[in-house]
Amino acid sequence: MIIGSISENLNLEKRVAITPEIIKKYKSLGLEINLVKNYATHLGIQDDEYELNGAKILDSENEVLSSSDAIVQMNILNDSNLNKLIQKQILIGVLNPYSNEKKLKEIISKNINCFSLELLPRITRAQSMDILSSQANLAGYKAVVDSFSYFQKAIPMMMTAAGTISAAKVLVVGAGVAGLQAIATAKRMGAIVFATDVRMASKEQVESLGGKFLMVEGSENLETAGGYAKETSDEFRKKQEELITETLKKIDIVICTALIPGKKAPIIIKKEMINVMSTGSVIYDLAASQGGNSELTQVDKIVDNNGIKIMGETNILNKLPISASNLYSKNMFNFISNLFNKEKNSFDINLEDEIIEKTKIK
Ligand code: NAI
Repeated sequence: MIIGSISENLNLEKRVAITPEIIKKYKSLGLEINLVKNYATHLGIQDDEYELNGAKILDSENEVLSSSDAIVQMNILNDSNLNKLIQKQILIGVLNPYSNEKKLKEIISKNINCFSLELLPRITRAQSMDILSSQANLAGYKAVVDSFSYFQKAIPMMMTAAGTISAAKVLVVGAGVAGLQAIATAKRMGAIVFATDVRMASKEQVESLGGKFLMVEGSENLETAGGYAKETSDEFRKKQEELITETLKKIDIVICTALIPGKKAPIIIKKEMINVMSTGSVIYDLAASQGGNSELTQVDKIVDNNGIKIMGETNILNKLPISASNLYSKNMFNFISNLFNKEKNSFDINLEDEIIEKTKIK
């Protein structure tokens, strides 16, 4: 059985689904790897490196697509390549079924099996495949590093005989995977960190990282059975706004990460709340591509609101593509090793397996 992968649209995506070191693992399962030439040269990884690890490099995308039993990608293929897929082939990636519903329905109707990894259940057995966590963790780290580099003051407290600088204060909105990594990174760099979330379980996690949890007064736990956040009520939002506005008066940097699966990101930091912040403050909105948690966020722009900078990108992971690809490639391998039956030398689409059932696009 052959696993194939072709280049992504490099204007939008720098990550790759297969890194050289994972190839030996695929081979030990009995799988072959076909890649298109110059697959990861934009990351400084030459074809030779893939070949030395046992991959086959083919000249064209068509050769890879037609020779592969399973095609693994970061994002959905373009329309022309989707049309080349044939019956019984498997396509795996972050296929974004909400935005690509029509395209996916069409290819499924040709008896092509599609799996989208952002639909993985958050269960213990799926942790090693959890692309949402591996990528959100890096995003949380990078949002802090980038926002700190825009902030024109030092982050840690520095006390010397020649003078003292006070520590920067950071607020993290949403303490899921990205938020918790943002807290840890900001703490490591010496900031004083505050965080808020609607899930009570996150309070202990924030505190264990040395952050101060901001609890919305009288708030109930807004957590679904699956561990995600629910939408908040008007009353909750009002109290949250009051608490955050008061906090923002002393905050230098805000990292926004709040999301609700399948919905537009909640607007938490309104314009009038931003106006209470001091000139020179920075807001990094990781929810930008889902609409943003700050009212002034504009995707891929740095908005200057009276000296307060608000930024957010379509894909922050393009700034850490090698680390992000390494993790994604491992997650993908772990997903495939669950889908592949070594004894039968075939893919086993067993819908009784929760991981397979939940990720398969129907
Ligand atoms: P996410 O990316 O969907 O959301 C980020 C955070 O924003 C969440 O913590 C959410 O509660 C918070 N949020 C949403 N609306 C908010 C609002 N109005 N105000 C403040 N905060 C708000 O979440 P993520 O990072 O994917 O984590 C979701 C859950 O999955 C968590 O319970 C996490 O512990 C769990 N998880 C479980 C794993 C496993 O067992 N394998 C792996 C990773 C995460």
